[in-house]
Amino acid sequence: MKKEKLTIIATKQIAKATFEMKLENIHISENAVPGQFLHILMEGHTLGRPISIADIDKQNHIVTILFKVVGSGTKRLAEYRVGQQIDALGPSGNGFPSEQNEKKTVLLIGGGIGVPPMYYLGKQLAEQNVNVIAILGFQTAENVFYEEKFNQVAETYIVTDDGSYGEEGFVTDLLDQVGNFDCYYTCGPLPMIKAITDKLIGKRGYISLEERMGCGVGACLACMIPANNQSGYKKICSDGPVFSAEEVII
Ligand SMILES: Cc1cc2nc3c(=O)[nH]c(=O)nc-3n(C[C@H](O)[C@H](O)[C@H](O)COP(=O)(O)OP(=O)(O)OC[C@H]3O[C@@H](n4cnc5c(N)ncnc54)[C@H](O)[C@@H]3O)c2cc1C
Ligand code: FES
Repeated sequence: MKKEKLTIIATKQIAKATFEMKLENIHISENAVPGQFLHILMEGHTLGRPISIADIDKQNHIVTILFKVVGSGTKRLAEYRVGQQIDALGPSGNGFPSEQNEKKTVLLIGGGIGVPPMYYLGKQLAEQNVNVIAILGFQTAENVFYEEKFNQVAETYIVTDDGSYGEEGFVTDLLDQVGNFDCYYTCGPLPMIKAITDKLIGKRGYISLEERMGCGVGACLACMIPANNQSGYKKICSDGPVFSAEEVII
């Protein structure tokens, strides 16, 4: 992880309060793996804000992030324009483990702002000839993004809470419908992850936690989560954000 400057080369709104930003940076594009994040230092904010890496174009050194405006930090980020530079620590955290998945079927489950890291992971798995199935959950039709992109790498199912697009319900409602899979990867709000790990107990799975952070580098303990280890906890920023499903207690 290094402190890096990234140059904004494109920024646009892609869904309700949701933005796609393309950033140019050599170090991060060459080193990031799916599941890692950028700890972005926005102007006027002392603490960084973690945002997942949603895609990488290694050839052109482009890092894509997708973010939802929820407070002052992400509001500020949405105001940045092409040509400006942002400061970030990255690539931060531990990403999804690179397993021998060839010829296997994996299930990706993303909820809301947990969808972005699933895309880079799905793309990389598809390149390794893995059969990828994706269930993506959003609140309503106007929050849906990246459906076409997921369709290119995965058999994709969309669910919305109110049924205004795709199937009505929660991502967990589709778990029985998607057929057999060898392993699952998920990212999204804690209640969603808890519901998934409860339902898929005994199945090999990896979860990525997007909970609140402070320092982002393992020093402040703001991101602790109970865990099945000797100390009884893990730090999301430095031990995660990706954990195996049995490793942490949700
Ligand atoms: C590893 C990791 C990866 C993430 N990846 C993404 C991503 O790819 N795209 C994206 O849009 N967001 C992502 N997030 C969430 C993002 O970091 C927060 O939305 C952001 O920090 C909010 O900052 P803010 O200044 O806009 O809001 P604040 O003013 O800090 O908070 C505004 C509101 O959002 C709530 N909030 C703040 N942080 C979080 C959080 N982490 N989870 C849930 N609620 C929160 C607060 O409780 C408050 O109600 C990620 C978080 C983590 C830890
Ligand atoms: S955010 Fe400070 S220890 Fe994780």
